[in-house]
Amino acid sequence: MWCGAALLLTSLGRGVVAQPSPEELAPLLAGLGEQPQIERRVPLSTDDLTVAPLIDLQVFAPPATPKNGKRCSVTLLQHSFGDGSYNAPAVVAYTPPTDPACGEVGKWAAISLNLSVYSIGTQYDRLSAIYLSHSEIWRSSSAEPTKTGTIWNTLKDVTHFTPLFAKPGDLMMDFSNIIAPDLYVLLDGVFDVVLTATFYAPTKSFPAAVTSDVIIPLSNLNDTLPNFFTIADDIGGVTAVVLPDTAVSAYVEVFCSGNSAEEFWYLNTPDEFLQDFPGSTGLVGKGPFREVQVLVDGRLSGVIWPYPVIYTGGITPSNWRPLTSYGAYDQPTYWVDITPFIPVLLDKNTNHTVTLRVVGQGTTAPSFNSNWFVSGSIHVRTGSTKTTGKITSYSAPKLRISTVLAHRELNIEAELHTAEGTRSVRFSQSLDFVNEARYADEGWIQWGEQTTTGTTTASHQGKQVLRDAFTYPLSVFSNYSLYTQESGGYGSEINQTHIRALAPPFGAARTIRSVQHARGAIGMDNWPGLRHAINGTGATDQTFAYVDCRGETYFRDVAAKNDGWVRDAVWGSLRDANPPVLRNQIFGPGGGPGFRRMVGRG
Ligand SMILES: *[C@@H]1O[C@H](CO)[C@@H](O)[C@H](O)[C@H]1NC(C)=O
Ligand SMILES: *[C@@H]1O[C@H](CO)[C@@H](O)[C@H](O)[C@H]1NC(C)=O
Ligand SMILES: *[C@@H]1O[C@H](CO)[C@@H](O)[C@H](O)[C@H]1NC(C)=O
Ligand SMILES: *[C@@H]1O[C@H](CO)[C@@H](O)[C@H](O)[C@H]1NC(C)=O
Ligand SMILES: *[C@@H]1O[C@H](CO)[C@@H](O)[C@H](O)[C@H]1NC(C)=O
Ligand SMILES: *[C@@H]1O[C@H](CO)[C@@H](O)[C@H](O)[C@H]1NC(C)=O
Repeated sequence: MWCGAALLLTSLGRGVVAQPSPEELAPLLAGLGEQPQIERRVPLSTDDLTVAPLIDLQVFAPPATPKNGKRCSVTLLQHSFGDGSYNAPAVVAYTPPTDPACGEVGKWAAISLNLSVYSIGTQYDRLSAIYLSHSEIWRSSSAEPTKTGTIWNTLKDVTHFTPLFAKPGDLMMDFSNIIAPDLYVLLDGVFDVVLTATFYAPTKSFPAAVTSDVIIPLSNLNDTLPNFFTIADDIGGVTAVVLPDTAVSAYVEVFCSGNSAEEFWYLNTPDEFLQDFPGSTGLVGKGPFREVQVLVDGRLSGVIWPYPVIYTGGITPSNWRPLTSYGAYDQPTYWVDITPFIPVLLDKNTNHTVTLRVVGQGTTAPSFNSNWFVSGSIHVRTGSTKTTGKITSYSAPKLRISTVLAHRELNIEAELHTAEGTRSVRFSQSLDFVNEARYADEGWIQWGEQTTTGTTTASHQGKQVLRDAFTYPLSVFSNYSLYTQESGGYGSEINQTHIRALAPPFGAARTIRSVQHARGAIGMDNWPGLRHAINGTGATDQTFAYVDCRGETYFRDVAAKNDGWVRDAVWGSLRDANPPVLRNQIFGPGGGPGFRRMVGRG
């Protein structure tokens, strides 16, 4: 009824003298008279384009950069990811900046990227990846935008990719999106992307960054398709690797995320219990444990037990607008030191590979579902003479795993003869995982409690070169009891924590603590057969703290509710580089108006 009237007014508006009847005008005037007191932003259901777009964000600590000194900003990419963008990344030539304000090429103090996205309309959450010369440098995803426009800006420190930024190459951005102007599933949200890089020249107090000398991509190297490996088997993604003869250290950085039946891998049901639930609940098997492995010539060299990133459509979409879960716009990455394998990789009698593999908990092969997106790169430091040596100790006992527990120990030592002398190198990991799931109502209700903890360390000649100590507790309650009912719905409550002390091989050691609590519900119709989300509530709060070894800090206490900001306080030395949302975006304790969808009925 309402929708029909709106359509009529729109068509009359196109230059035709309109004579709406008093009966048609009455509801419009009544609506105008009901303007809410706090109307900073109009909710989803309106088509009023005059209001400010919703500021949506993932909390992050902005890159630490020189306070003074020369700098320059360069637009790397400006692109709209709309119709036809699925599996069709934007690819542009990259050339190092030549403006003297940028500083000497390759000798930068810092490089910071700014990914700015605008979207208006309706869209699912979509995954994005950015590659430079076929090495992934950023794994991101989208907001579910609003009909009045949504904007999100994220900054990322990419200084450790200096060797790639110092030479010409191809910049590829994949943001596979689908536009479907269908009568029932109207997906019209296009992602308008602006990606800029800021290069900082070194200063007295902020010298040029120490980075690797060579970066070797671990990816499918394709020129036109997304470069991550799409992994759905036990073989994984294999890259032929030729290491420089003078390599003195080599670190693998890995990007990984579960997709499709693996998006919520941490809630997947162990195979031995799957048949206890009706298929209609949509529960997925292969259990909740996942390990991403790095293998050199097929031999295990290190593992990653990833942090579960929940995307903006994840579990209950209304939980994550406008405040996303940690990692949604800048996923954490992970490091494995493969320096002990340098002598193996330099053996000229055979060709060499580095494999990125995924292992799950399924009782039949493959041990996980379809699929995982995994890629990475090797960051190599070189010396002046050919490196020789051998692995002196290799201990990688079988993963200890039961239905709810997993434990892994790994210790690899080697002796290398390098330009810097003889060096003993050691890479160690000790990881624990526990996941307990409870179900009710035949599986429509699920509680999942998971904690992943671990410590990864690497030392070269007694000096620590990598430390990653983390704990990732996650607790999810999801309730789909009324999902299949007329005017039913679903809801959830989620607690997620990310605590990580990371001293990466390149860049400042930092400690991060993010604590989030989210709860929300979505109401659904069932007309005309295809389900629509028609309304929703969601409340998310987060405390975030960042401290690094340079003394930089960033703290944030933020809350959002029903599509509006409730509070946002930011403090610490890096505050000004990522300040709180503007006052005119804060709705107050009650939050915003929530999500409402008007469904046309003819
Ligand atoms: C990031 O880029 C957007 C779009 O170009 C711009 O509006 C915003 O101010 C930039 N943010 C920073 C911190 O530079
Ligand atoms: C990219 O992948 C496509 C599809 O698999 C293939 O036809 C093409 O040869 C690949 N191109 C490169 C440069 O690898
Ligand atoms: C290594 O790979 C090259 C190129 O694919 C091939 O020509 C060569 O025979 C391989 N060498 C060995 C030892 O397998
Ligand atoms: C989340 O944490 C809150 C506060 O500690 C607690 O009341 C709630 O029960 C937790 N919910 C879940 C699903 O863990
Ligand atoms: C699940 O949601 C329904 C509908 O809101 C509610 O009646 C029911 O009590 C919930 N179940 C649990 C275990 O919270
Ligand atoms: C969503 O709409 C349904 C059906 O009109 C209604 O019963 C429910 O209370 C609404 N929920 C919210 C959160 O507005």
